[in-house]
Amino acid sequence: MSSELDRRAFRDLSYGLYIVTSRDGDRLNGQIVNTVIQVTSDPPRVAVIINKKNLTHDFITSSGVFGVSVLDDTATMTFIGPFGFRSGREVNKFEKVSFKKGVTGVPLVSEHSLSLLEVKVFDCIDLGTHSIFIGDVVFSEVLKTGQPLTYHFYHEVLKGKSPPNAPTFMSHQPL
Ligand SMILES: Cc1cc2nc3c(=O)[nH]c(=O)nc-3n(C[C@H](O)[C@H](O)[C@H](O)COP(=O)(O)O)c2cc1C
Repeated sequence: MSSELDRRAFRDLSYGLYIVTSRDGDRLNGQIVNTVIQVTSDPPRVAVIINKKNLTHDFITSSGVFGVSVLDDTATMTFIGPFGFRSGREVNKFEKVSFKKGVTGVPLVSEHSLSLLEVKVFDCIDLGTHSIFIGDVVFSEVLKTGQPLTYHFYHEVLKGKSPPNAPTFMSHQPL
């Protein structure tokens, strides 16, 4: 099967970049994703794809809620790094970042963010390595206008990589 696949084709798919957050009681966590999409308009629902090894996966599964910060193109690799390459199992990612608590209790990161969403999980689909969480948007807010950070900009301008837990990881590329 793999001989039929030119994996460079996957690189032409377009995405934004987001911080998806959740909580477990008072414990807060969040991670970078490129996989937030709106799936229906009425009711307003979004979906996100999260690796089962991530602490954020455990938190979303236990709390049934997640937050989304839509990042803008002022985000730097220094800002993105802890959320995209470190696990909340090792570091507290909320020590050095500006955020507020949402109506569902999840942290919502306001730095380098255009908009915020809060979501209550409606369904979860098991994909093996990852889960798709689909949920109802229960809160949304625009913080400012600007240019959303795209996956293309992240790779081409910030020279960022995608780690193994990202759905778009390509094993033959150096991290
Ligand atoms: C550009 C980029 C995109 C990513 N996209 C996803 C994604 O869509 N889903 C996912 O599960 N992990 C994704 N990741 C990986 C997680 O952000 C990373 O594994 C994180 O360290 C998990 O943290 P946690 O264990 O604290 O939840 C991405 C990382 C980067 C840098």
